Amino acid sequence: MQEILVVGGAGYIGSHMVAELQAAGYDPVVLDDLSSGREDFVGDAELIGGDCGDADLLNDIFSSHKIDAVMHFASSIQVGESVKNPIKYYKNNLINTLTLLNAVVRHDVPDFIFSSSAAVYGEPEYTPVDEQHPCLPLSPYGRSKYFIEQILQDYKKAYGLHYGSLRYFNAAGAHPELPIGEQHEPETHLIPLALQVASGQREYIEIFGSDYDNPDGTCIRDYVHVCDIASAHLKLFDYLKGGGNESVFNLGVGEGYSVMEVIKMVKHVTGQEVEIHYEDRREGDPAILVADGSKAIDQLGWDPEYSDLQTIIEDAWKWEQNR
Ligand SMILES: NC(=O)c1ccc[n+]([C@@H]2O[C@H](COP(=O)([O-])OP(=O)(O)OC[C@H]3O[C@@H](n4cnc5c(N)ncnc54)[C@H](O)[C@@H]3O)[C@@H](O)[C@H]2O)c1
Repeated sequence: MQEILVVGGAGYIGSHMVAELQAAGYDPVVLDDLSSGREDFVGDAELIGGDCGDADLLNDIFSSHKIDAVMHFASSIQVGESVKNPIKYYKNNLINTLTLLNAVVRHDVPDFIFSSSAAVYGEPEYTPVDEQHPCLPLSPYGRSKYFIEQILQDYKKAYGLHYGSLRYFNAAGAHPELPIGEQHEPETHLIPLALQVASGQREYIEIFGSDYDNPDGTCIRDYVHVCDIASAHLKLFDYLKGGGNESVFNLGVGEGYSVMEVIKMVKHVTGQEVEIHYEDRREGDPAILVADGSKAIDQLGWDPEYSDLQTIIEDAWKWEQNR
């Protein structure tokens, strides 16, 4: 069985990747420092506790396992926190990733897949956003992802690094069968927050900005089911193994939903009321962020089969009730 190192595999998206890899007959090995991940999220996969910025640990892992690919999910992920504490973001997302990349190159790991983000684009100049759109990230978080993408290009040219970078739009939903799902501390994502209000764990949800130039005044985003994000990684891995040379792909379905539409669907799925408090706009929140995901669909054969809003919220609701 091919061994795949899933860095950050105890987190939300990484744990779905571990499940997807196992279902596809791979042997995922997880490296995670459990700073925000959960041990029980990795199931029966091997879990190595540690920091991906630990060069000695990486050396041990690559020497003792025959790793066929690295999928790198580990990162600090809060945009707002990154503005207040850029050191944390440049240390974890940039320096630690660089240490990991150096080990990947030194040990000749055949393929590297990077979790990038729509945050690399900044304020959209047009919509839907394709991969040619200029990258002008607005936060240290977005810049950390963008810098790594630049470094990956350099490593490809200089060392022949074979890699792909997936720019996720809004990951959402949960595994329909396994006990894994979205759990961030603090939670900043709309769907889990709205579901926590529906389940009585929170009193209300804050909506930041209701005067955007959109039909109902709230921000519009492109939501992708986390299982579809995982399946895109497998498609990209196959593409890279087959000699594919394109490196950057959006993961979004090209359909945008406003904050109010998401809350309406949460009410529909849960049958509960969701109390709303309106707040001012947050700095750096674009009015609309919707992907042109056709490159991943056409070139990787990606099929985002779970990414309709109702399925996303139904799966997230099941997880929210059981976690
Ligand atoms: N959630 C989204 O909507 C979204 C959108 C765009 C991009 N992304 C990217 O996807 C990736 C995964 O996001 P997530 O939502 O699953 O986050 P998460 O916090 O649930 O998972 C990250 C995992 O990485 C681990 N980790 C962090 N730093 C580490 C380190 N130095 N060494 C080892 N392990 C470390 C954490 O313990 C956690 O298990 C991130 O790179 C994030 O930037 C997420």
